[in-house]
Amino acid sequence: MIELVVYDDYQTLSRQTAKYIAELVRKKPNTVLGLATGSTPLGLYQELVHLYNEKEIDFKDVLTFNLDEYVGLPKEHPQSYYYFMNQHLFSKVNIAKNNIHFPRGIFTDPKEACREYEKQLTEVDHIDLQILGIGSNGHIGFNEPAKRMTLDTHITDLAPRTIQDNARFFNDSNEVPRQAITMGIGSIMRAKTILLMAHKESKAEAIDAIFSGVVDPNLPASILQLHSNVLVLVNKEVANRLHYRPPTIMVNQ
Ligand code: F6R
Repeated sequence: MIELVVYDDYQTLSRQTAKYIAELVRKKPNTVLGLATGSTPLGLYQELVHLYNEKEIDFKDVLTFNLDEYVGLPKEHPQSYYYFMNQHLFSKVNIAKNNIHFPRGIFTDPKEACREYEKQLTEVDHIDLQILGIGSNGHIGFNEPAKRMTLDTHITDLAPRTIQDNARFFNDSNEVPRQAITMGIGSIMRAKTILLMAHKESKAEAIDAIFSGVVDPNLPASILQLHSNVLVLVNKEVANRLHYRPPTIMVNQ
């Protein structure tokens, strides 16, 4: 079942998603969270830190698996996704260092780096709740448009559009790494629940692919139609631009 949830605005979307996670962690303290980086989940991480400060969520036993990392960027690089997570969430809550899982951006043997992350993912069996953003080209994690989808952790060439979209985080588009290591479609699809968030109108076309009735490896997010429990969380601006009208929940707050 895949549903669309429409929020009045980005702040409400972020706050409600944080509350949803806090509730889940209350019920299952060792929840396995799949996490995304980028501008979309920034509000969510802010709200989670707020809930932590209010003692509404305890990260002591929570496990996290991030979707992806740029190849060639060490953890200390300000544009690495590890740095991002540390800056916006990990350093601000009581998560145990050993419970944080990340694909390695620095390696000598790419196959070994992928195997290592895949093994860690297999050890937890499945992710309880996967947070996803979406690329304007329909990528999830860094599963870029391709002839076929890749199930396991893999190294991917970033699509020209992704390089262009992400150039805003770097001084120059030439500085954007050309490759990333990413969780595959298999681990994402094994997650019990998937929350895909989007608040920029530029994502509407990609989101349409999730409701189109067609699974197309050129629009990787379209695979989510085969999952049994996906919520697509958007603000009104994005909702107004969608062509498909799936089962919809309106949240006014
Ligand atoms: C990042 C990730 C990507 C982003 C997507 C949207 O970990 O997996 O799929 O979610 O590129 O990025 P933003 O949120 O910056 O628009």
